[in-house]
Amino acid sequence: MQKGLLDSIKEAEKIMNKVDDSFHGGLEHARKVVYISQQILASEPKANADVVVVSAWWHDTGRIIGNEEHEKRSALMASEDLENRGIDRIFCRQVYLAIAHHRYDMHPVTLEGTIIRDADKLALLDPKRWQNAIDDKAYHKFEHTINILPTLKNDVLRLKSSKDLYDKLLPEFLSYIRNINETDFMLQKQEILSLKLSN
Ligand SMILES: [Fe+2]
Ligand SMILES: [Fe+2]
Repeated sequence: MQKGLLDSIKEAEKIMNKVDDSFHGGLEHARKVVYISQQILASEPKANADVVVVSAWWHDTGRIIGNEEHEKRSALMASEDLENRGIDRIFCRQVYLAIAHHRYDMHPVTLEGTIIRDADKLALLDPKRWQNAIDDKAYHKFEHTINILPTLKNDVLRLKSSKDLYDKLLPEFLSYIRNINETDFMLQKQEILSLKLSN
């Protein structure tokens, strides 16, 4: 990867380090989405890997200002940072498009965007983010995600490789949930364990 892109990733890391959200996550979440994106990339040889990795690092940077509309804000922040480093305009545009539509109910227009969105949604099964929110007693943050979980595999995820990864990640997630003993999480725990999450 060329130096300009590596420097841009460093900038994204700095911003994500300041995004303080125990569930939707800061740096740890960005790292996780990069990791999952790379796993999906292994099955998507047509995707531009540099676009995907740079976009994964930047995808939630707009949360530094607020969660509302952070998808477009992150996309703009990323593409402006890259343009200022003299990166090719087409690459900047691809990064913009890869980030701008990553919400669960949005429709990415590129393969790279589909990978970012799928990786971000697969990261909902990351036990660490649940634990961070439990440690912070931020239980209200789970509600929306619990509603999405039953549709995650078949309706939200788009790529076959993402659905395969879902099957791999689900058992670990469920065993984590089963072992939670925090009294305040018991209702959510029962609710999650009663959902039909695999098929
Ligand atoms: Fe996001
Ligand atoms: Fe995210």
